Amino acid sequence: MNVTVLDRAVARETRVSGAGATATLRGIRKRFGTHEVLQGIDLDIPAGQFVAIVGRSGCGKSTLLRLIAGLDQPSAGRIAVDGQENAWKDVVRLMFQEPRLLPWQRVVANVEVGLTHAESRTERRREAQDVLAQVGLAGRERDWPAVLSGGQKQRVALARALASHPRLLAFDEPLGALDALTRIEMQDLIERVWQEKGFTAIVVTHDVTEAVALADRILVLDGGHVAMDVAVDLPRPRRRGDPQAAAIEGRILDRLLQR
Ligand SMILES: Nc1ncnc2c1ncn2[C@@H]1O[C@H](COP(=O)(O)OP(=O)(O)O)[C@@H](O)[C@H]1O
Ligand SMILES: [Mg+2]
Repeated sequence: MNVTVLDRAVARETRVSGAGATATLRGIRKRFGTHEVLQGIDLDIPAGQFVAIVGRSGCGKSTLLRLIAGLDQPSAGRIAVDGQENAWKDVVRLMFQEPRLLPWQRVVANVEVGLTHAESRTERRREAQDVLAQVGLAGRERDWPAVLSGGQKQRVALARALASHPRLLAFDEPLGALDALTRIEMQDLIERVWQEKGFTAIVVTHDVTEAVALADRILVLDGGHVAMDVAVDLPRPRRRGDPQAAAIEGRILDRLLQR
């Protein structure tokens, strides 16, 4: 085995053992003009944790996620991923509500876009096929995005994000456009790949039930601060309609609705 092959094998081993990245935020502020959306956020997210961020529309959830993903700079404060303040962008991937697929590329080619480590063409194709199978889309490689349902398109977007073996995967209302049953299927899929791969997950959602179903920890954002930081210490897989889950959901909704 030559050195490059060995490096790759080691890299893959590390990815399979699934070390998620830590995220550390200190004194994060973000201002747009005179409007200070985030007013001092301090957070420690341990490796592999599943965090949900909830809050009213416009409270700064997407802003916070963009900062963590390195797509935007804070007005003040520091963010480190795995202790690195500047070099984390290739360990983080962000998924949106719209799947953002390239319509002129087949499904498999859309996933290959996410394969950042350039390997041979055959290897790339094989990796893309593998990851498509992991999201339940084996056999759909040659389809065009246009023939897929909304849920299937989101699966392709998830496969594309997973293809780069992110150590932190951030989701901005990823399931907001899906119907109720497809949503539940996608929640189960996200939970399963998170458990298999061990990445750190941060999901912004307006759906408190979804947050309680998925997360180890729920952050309620309000007035530019983390207003609540709630541990969800329930066994997985979680049964929908569980009374303990309902109690947590009730507490969070009370906080969101008080004004
Ligand atoms: N690029 C921007 N320029 C100016 N204002 C922005 C920008 N991005 C977000 N905002 C404002 O910041 C606030 C928070 O936005 P956002 O983070 O998208 O909220 P959320 O995702 O919680 O609904 C809103 O008032 C929004 O209008
Ligand atoms: Mg948003």
